[in-house]
Amino acid sequence: MEKIVIEGGHRLEGTVVVSGAKNAALPILVSALLSDGTNTFDNVPDLKDVRTIKTLLADLGAKVETSGSVVKVDATGLNNQEAPYDLVRTMRASVLVLGPLLARLGRARVSLPGGCAIGARPINLHLKGLEELGAVISLSEGYIEAEASSLKGAEIYFDIVTVTGTENLMMAAVFAEGLTTLRNAAREPEIVALAEVLNQMGAQITGAGTPVIEIRGVKTLKPTSFSIIPDRIETGTFMIAAGVTGGDIKIVGCDPNHFRAVINKLRQTGMTVEQEADGLRVVGAETISSADVKTLPYPGFPTDMQAQFMVLMCFAEGLSVISETIFENRFIHVSELQRMGADITVSGSAAVVKGGQRLTGAPVMATDLRASASLILAGLAAEGTTEVARIYHIDRGYESIEKKLSQLGGKLERVNA
Ligand code: EPZ
Repeated sequence: MEKIVIEGGHRLEGTVVVSGAKNAALPILVSALLSDGTNTFDNVPDLKDVRTIKTLLADLGAKVETSGSVVKVDATGLNNQEAPYDLVRTMRASVLVLGPLLARLGRARVSLPGGCAIGARPINLHLKGLEELGAVISLSEGYIEAEASSLKGAEIYFDIVTVTGTENLMMAAVFAEGLTTLRNAAREPEIVALAEVLNQMGAQITGAGTPVIEIRGVKTLKPTSFSIIPDRIETGTFMIAAGVTGGDIKIVGCDPNHFRAVINKLRQTGMTVEQEADGLRVVGAETISSADVKTLPYPGFPTDMQAQFMVLMCFAEGLSVISETIFENRFIHVSELQRMGADITVSGSAAVVKGGQRLTGAPVMATDLRASASLILAGLAAEGTTEVARIYHIDRGYESIEKKLSQLGGKLERVNA
């Protein structure tokens, strides 16, 4: 088992290049199932979750070729409609193949994803929407069995804003007869990017990025090429790395329009964030001011930045209240931060952080992707050495994070435990 060993107290400075967005790459790679011929995607990040989805696409019969950050997917030979449990349980975003398989083959057998560290994360809204399009859904032996001789456009209302639910239904509806309207749809930049790819393939989608998305069914789609958008959560993570070390860094390749809520909040804590031609210059504050945050669906403050922001608040002056409204169990990082000396009190969906604490390095354990990122951030600023175990969690969503942070002057090393 690998771990990352961090020697704290080193100020970050220099330039780092952000990778393609994991949460854009996953649905966009899956969208290749909807067309015959070769789709070419570039700026695809080399992440564990991306490797998992490529394995799944190949298992379904697609030809997948990777050369550096370019991935070609040709689903002409699509001949299997089953996403097995051993793949889905390792990455719940595998359920994204449901919509395309139903649209393309008229049937799908996908394992229910099961629970996850941060919450139950059901997919009832995905299944409800597919039924409203005319699919017949049954559950057997832990698998979703979906059949649809043909899908018909429908008006679908999401009781809860769901990112992959919106993506699944958008893809399922591209061949559905007539008009499909998704209401209370997710508005993330990754949704907009997926709609752009589908429209380049010949789909007729309007409204992506707003709460109402309309999809007019077409007969077929053709392959296309697309460059994956930059990762706004990796960017935010590096911004906070500068914040906790009093650093001065340049983040190249990010799109500030994708994370205005994060920029606004970090400026509120006293950080300097300057937009430059090719990215952002981010400078940590001499004195960090506390600020409250509430995670919300986009364009609100992203839940995927909650754990990282909590670390910054450990070094702020005064109290801050962090409310997590998206997932029911996304404070797992708190107990590990407390072992480093953080003064955090959790009450229900809110965590009260008492700033001004000196964090000291300790052996800690990652539990989920963004929690492990927060432990690395804490290690950068803590006194002494921090060892983060189970870093396979972090490799799911960050491309060589220890190399990128070391290039900025951090002292991190990946070792075999
Ligand atoms: C996506 O997950 C992201 N993953 C998550 O990023 C992100 O945290 C999340 O959106 C919220 O922004 C990908 O895009 C691959 P949801 P998703 O459906 O789509 C409830 C990371 O760290 N819900 O938007 O699974 C659900 O339980 C990951 O990169 C239902 O109740 O999240 C949650 O409380 C972690 N029924 C809320 O909605 C459903 O059918 C939002 O979940 C679907 C969702």
